[in-house]
Amino acid sequence: MTQRTDKALRLEILDDGIAMVTFDVPGEPQNTLKDAFAGEFEALFRRIRDDDDIEGAVFISGKPDSFLAGADFDMLKGCKTAREAEALSRTGQQAFRALAALNIPVVAAIHGPCLGGGVELALACTSRICTDDPKTVLGMPEMMLGLLPGAGGTQRLPRLIGIANALDLLLTGRQVRGRKALKLGLVDDVVPRPILETAAVERAKLLAARQRAGKREGRRRRVALDAAGLQELALERTGPGRKLLFRQARKALSKKTRGNYPAGERIIDAVEVGFDKGIEAGFDAEARGFGELVVSDQARQLIGIYFAQNALKKDSGVDDPGVEPRPVRRVGILGAGLMGSGIAYVTTTRAGIPCRLKDKDDAGVLAGLKAVRKIHDKRVKRGSISRTEADRLYYQVTGSIDYRGFEQCDLVVEAVFENLALKHQVLRDIESLTGPETIFASNTSSIPISRLAEASSRPETVIGMHYFSPVEKMPLLEIITTGQTADWVTATCVALGKEQGKTVIVVRDGPGFYTTRILAAFMNEAARILTEGVPIEDIDEALKNWGFPVGPIILMDEVGIDVAEKVGKVMIDAFGQDMAPPPAMTRLVADNRKGRKNKKGFYTYGSGKKKVDRSVYRVLGIKPDRRMDPVTIAERCAWRFANEAVKCLGEGVLRCARDGDIGAIFGLGFPPFRGGPFRYIDDVGAENAVAQLEGHAATLGDRFRPAPLLAEMARDNRRFHP
Ligand code: NAI
Repeated sequence: MTQRTDKALRLEILDDGIAMVTFDVPGEPQNTLKDAFAGEFEALFRRIRDDDDIEGAVFISGKPDSFLAGADFDMLKGCKTAREAEALSRTGQQAFRALAALNIPVVAAIHGPCLGGGVELALACTSRICTDDPKTVLGMPEMMLGLLPGAGGTQRLPRLIGIANALDLLLTGRQVRGRKALKLGLVDDVVPRPILETAAVERAKLLAARQRAGKREGRRRRVALDAAGLQELALERTGPGRKLLFRQARKALSKKTRGNYPAGERIIDAVEVGFDKGIEAGFDAEARGFGELVVSDQARQLIGIYFAQNALKKDSGVDDPGVEPRPVRRVGILGAGLMGSGIAYVTTTRAGIPCRLKDKDDAGVLAGLKAVRKIHDKRVKRGSISRTEADRLYYQVTGSIDYRGFEQCDLVVEAVFENLALKHQVLRDIESLTGPETIFASNTSSIPISRLAEASSRPETVIGMHYFSPVEKMPLLEIITTGQTADWVTATCVALGKEQGKTVIVVRDGPGFYTTRILAAFMNEAARILTEGVPIEDIDEALKNWGFPVGPIILMDEVGIDVAEKVGKVMIDAFGQDMAPPPAMTRLVADNRKGRKNKKGFYTYGSGKKKVDRSVYRVLGIKPDRRMDPVTIAERCAWRFANEAVKCLGEGVLRCARDGDIGAIFGLGFPPFRGGPFRYIDDVGAENAVAQLEGHAATLGDRFRPAPLLAEMARDNRRFHP
């Protein structure tokens, strides 16, 4: 008997008394939770409860490759007050409590992403089974959106997998695949996709039989724990043990977020209240926390970023909607160094495209292959993939010291040394070997792509693909087009970048493109503050408190002081003295200080805790005895950053403010809760931003003069985002 409706939930009762509930939101590519479904859920549960013939149920998705992606954001956007949002959370809690209270076993059969509210629904079921398909991931990303799971997740998750494991998932937003979920006890079984439904039905039957036999404890089985797991659990079971655990969690969180993300604090609060005062009090704390967070500035900005990312996923990178990306069947990579090996990894593993990796000698090739292997090994160790799968992916990269195999490549990325003559040479080599439609993409971080294209006989196929280090971790890809780059070339590279798992922005060529240019302005200001006598720790701490993941001075060590100097020269040539570093900085390179790579820079690189290498002050000829207000330090750097971003938009380097925000956040670590430089200016107000910049310009110099576009926006009282 099937009840067919145009609603989100479908109920079918199988012959053996198992109710098959299919969640399938009509007309949408994936399932999300809306408050409008509450009535439907309620009616369904009533129907199941009232039918004595139903002995068990399976909850499955009607979408081909997605279980449940979480709450519907439009619903959240609609909340104007904390009370409204709190009520929404209570509605969700109520629906899932009704599910958890059913008198029959319910099995969640999960295939595809199961996120946020999806996990909360699965947690309210008696048991969970998921597929071993790579598309299946489970996670609670609410924290990354400035929220907390508001439908019982903060209560049920720690009760199922333990407090420490739950806090880890809740506070990092980390997504886990089937095998890892099984290990954590988040699911009870992992099966191949084709037998998911059968396995879930069988499990529901088994649990029903157990229940009939009076073994109700079978409803909630714990995973078998190893010794360490048992020890952890023992700690979690005592009041003082838990206190210690929560204290440690709060400490670790505040070290990471510096109070900038209230969501993390509310998550820990809700979990702790649930254990201290009982689950009812926990639900209450969860709902109140949810209400407060939904209307917070942080959540508004973070949800804004989420929408921007989604919009970018649909953006082909070119304005003409008629342009289609061409297929990329084989990728060639020149230079098997830090960047080349990372690019080979994301191309084979994420995009599923085989790669040919060339270096100038055997040692280079071997080092590159080893680096790829190392990334796979880490994932095998973490339990994310099997050894067999890792081996299969690894063999998709082949090494070479000559150009054999390159003639078949549809796209070649060069990541050889940052040297124009060398890059010209390899470009000519590739063009002489390949057909007219092979794309030549450069990963240069500072050489203008048009300069590179000067050596090309077909400049329409030359483009920049600027990846960030480490490639397998950093989410951004900045694609750089020259006036001559063909639209199909851009669209093809954008499509490839997305397949490599990247968030892709397309910018117009210019010195430093977008990201390197704004980073240069930011670092330039930090260097000036340093040479004014402010201690290095104070500068780095000030920017970390403001929300950057690392401070600008330590970042200079990471990037390489020699590299920063080289880029600095390109910037001075293009933008004049505003970008000139303080003269003392040149002494660092003369002192052979390159940063982390030669263990000699602003910080020490021996064993033990990283400290400032105080001898650097002597080299710079400064006494670090000046105290500067941390907010002043941070804002001086941040204003240079944001003002330069506006210049890029005004000059047409950026296609839109959205791309500027995304590039700054995902490429350079601009604080996400501030929304990116353009959203930050919108929040401050253009007029106010101009006033602050003018104020700095009056005391510190012309480098703070507001970008012409900003002055215009202030005059017309306009915003970058609606
Ligand atoms: P790297 O020094 O680690 O690797 C460069 C590799 O190119 C070396 O293995 C070298 O042996 C090889 N090579 C040199 N001449 C070659 C030739 N004729 N044919 C084939 N291979 C050759 O350098 P890294 O860091 O990987 O940088 C490569 C490029 O990526 C540079 O243009 C750099 O500016 C850019 N880049 C670097 C970033 C970073 O954080 N390291 C970030 C973004 C871009």
